[in-house]
Amino acid sequence: MKVLVIGGGGREHALVWKIAQSPRVSKIYCTPGNAGICAEPGVECIAWDGKDLDTLLGIASNIQPDLIVVGPELPLAQGVVDELNRRGMRVFGPTKAAAQLEASKGFAKEFMRRHNIPTAHYAVCPNETELRAALPHFHGKIVVKADGLAAGKGVVIANSREEASDIALEMLSGNLVGTAGASVVLEEFLEGEELSFLVLSDGEHVAPLVPAQDHKRVGEGDTGANTGGMGAYSTSALLDPQMQEWLLTHIVRPVIAGMKAEDAEYRGILYVGLMMTARGPQVLEFNCRFGDPENQAVLMRLESDIVDAFEASIDGRVSDGDFRWSADPAVCVVVASGGYPSTFETGKKISGLAEADAVPGVKVFHAGTGHVDADIVTTGGRVLGVTARGATLEEALRMAYETVEKIKFEGMQYRRDIGAKALKK
Ligand code: AMP
Ligand code: GLY
Repeated sequence: MKVLVIGGGGREHALVWKIAQSPRVSKIYCTPGNAGICAEPGVECIAWDGKDLDTLLGIASNIQPDLIVVGPELPLAQGVVDELNRRGMRVFGPTKAAAQLEASKGFAKEFMRRHNIPTAHYAVCPNETELRAALPHFHGKIVVKADGLAAGKGVVIANSREEASDIALEMLSGNLVGTAGASVVLEEFLEGEELSFLVLSDGEHVAPLVPAQDHKRVGEGDTGANTGGMGAYSTSALLDPQMQEWLLTHIVRPVIAGMKAEDAEYRGILYVGLMMTARGPQVLEFNCRFGDPENQAVLMRLESDIVDAFEASIDGRVSDGDFRWSADPAVCVVVASGGYPSTFETGKKISGLAEADAVPGVKVFHAGTGHVDADIVTTGGRVLGVTARGATLEEALRMAYETVEKIKFEGMQYRRDIGAKALKK
């Protein structure tokens, strides 16, 4: 079968790599892809700006794939699944209505209130008047979130009401994250460990993926600005079977049933971002797709055919048997451009990739990479995701970091403490 993968980040490189392992797949197209994706055997990349829906629909119509897998949130929020379904194509991912769970944080919060799903206290503020009215109800640190999609940059933690007010006004004015900030959500600050819990859904049934933990802050020791994610690891130790059952019963199944009841049936990957607090797990956010960089670590552990799982979601027959996992932990260390997540330069030549690719048990997933003549150069903030699987987390981390050290480009930065908290336990 022919498969089209939409996207061009580290998450999509991992998807393409895993899909290519399916004996059922003869050809993979990826749009726009990146230098690493194009180098995978049997994969053809097609240029696309990552934004224009009509161009994307044209690309899919030309290829007529047997299966389309959508990686990023933007096309999902634009309704790519609805449009492709209308054209008779088989697509893995949620519809526009279902993707609202990620595309509008206000929608997600009100949905959680309607369905009694545990989440931080909040206020949705579409303008300055509502912001002024809401602020006195918050104490201590306040989390300010842009309602819309902001590529991981729409959340700021303020230390006081004054600071929260300044940030929220900046967002509302459109200066900070453009139209994504046309409405803001204020949220109570929660303390605890974060957990990314993902499930596959067909609108009714769910199958959990192995848990992962992201490292959102740019700096070591969880300091500095929030990013799209600087590294992730996946080990079974992150979530015991009782807690997994609790999450399925009190969060995941009510979300899937609630979306169906609200005529927004949820098919695809549901990503639940959690804070494990003293008063129990609380939902921080939903994403309507795989995590990035969590996916790189999670798919390193997947031993069954991912294409079968995608088809189970499309055909309404998701069951616990859809995934078979390795017990071995996996880790992904993100290598980013200097300056990320604020301004950074691109076009830096990357060296050492051939040596890194040759390390057994390690896979270097590309994110922001492209070609200039024969060179591979940086094209984005997050450049590579060096991913390793080992008998222990320690072993996986050692393999990943030894491989990172083989790679060089001007200004490159990475966190040296991915998974460090888990090792201390
Ligand atoms: P979100 O996109 O809503 O998941 O927010 C991005 C990141 O901001 C999360 O992964 C957390 O690290 C942090 N964050 C979001 N909401 C809260 C909260 N209520 N309390 C503490 N940290 C939060
Ligand atoms: N790593 C967080 C995300 O994918 O949104």
